[in-house]
Amino acid sequence: MNIRESTASAPGKIILFGEHFVVYGNPAILMAVNMRLNVYIKVIHDGNKIHIQSDSRKKIYDQINIKFKKDKLSFFDPIIHTCRKIFDQEKIQNVGLNIKINSDIPNGIGLGSSGAVSVATNAAILSIFKKPNKTDIFLNASETEKLIHKYSSGADCLISTVGGLVLYKKNQKYRRINYNNKFSFLIIDTGIKHSTKKMVEKVKKFSERENERFIKIKETANQICNDAIKTMKNGDEIGTGLLIRENHKLLEQIGISNVVIEKIIKKTNDAGAFGSKLTGAGGGGSIISLVPIEEKERIKKRIENQGYRVFPVIIDNQGVLIKKIVR
Ligand code: PMV
Repeated sequence: MNIRESTASAPGKIILFGEHFVVYGNPAILMAVNMRLNVYIKVIHDGNKIHIQSDSRKKIYDQINIKFKKDKLSFFDPIIHTCRKIFDQEKIQNVGLNIKINSDIPNGIGLGSSGAVSVATNAAILSIFKKPNKTDIFLNASETEKLIHKYSSGADCLISTVGGLVLYKKNQKYRRINYNNKFSFLIIDTGIKHSTKKMVEKVKKFSERENERFIKIKETANQICNDAIKTMKNGDEIGTGLLIRENHKLLEQIGISNVVIEKIIKKTNDAGAFGSKLTGAGGGGSIISLVPIEEKERIKKRIENQGYRVFPVIIDNQGVLIKKIVR
């Protein structure tokens, strides 16, 4: 083993169209955003201890073969699982690691921070032992992500690995979507924590209670995704904005919006956004707003003045990057 250090980074994501309906076999459009999480790994000669440090916490694992309670993992345990798995795969013994994680992806508001940590960690560790390709990284990262979110569909790891704009359907190969504009988005944190599991359950109940209505809404959501592929390919911001507004109405109809979300959406649209919608599970989390690039700062300030955190983003085309390898 010659490589002693590596650094990898991976982007966060938003769901642009099709959340929830994707659970029922519809397509969704996923977009990687230019917010990144970096993982730095150094091989150390300290038994097989693993030192991990993130922006907010620090822990030393004395050895890699720790017994975990699968249903009660602590913050860094999934990363140790990942190290152990890669060490087993590559038949590595008696190696210690120093792992440092820093991120500009806000946590817990549906922007794919745990997907990005899974992708970047796997990319950085794998690249110490071999030259990994994106498929290796994605498959390993999906396993790590399943430890963090038991019911993860793998969508966050996929978009964080490949970057760009992607049409995603459960159990199918993804398709890249071409786009011809520098689509400029604002992400607004509602400040309300949400549980994806609870919101998915809520939609399931709705789909059972109002089955015929749900089927119709789902068909419309499918059409919106198909139309959005065209508007984005044509670089049409107005058309894409209208589809964003329509998609949000469907999410409202299935019961995952609330007064805070509606208030922020009205404010952004009134301030001049092409369109705004909740993104991801709903009930809180984040809102996305497609805005004219020249109006971005003005709209951002207006929403910040209401007391919300706002993050301007564009599409990230790179996906996972292995940035540095020191031999
Ligand atoms: O808020 P997030 O990033 O956890 O997104 C959830 C997306 C859902 O469609 C609601 C669930 C899923 O697994 O696709």
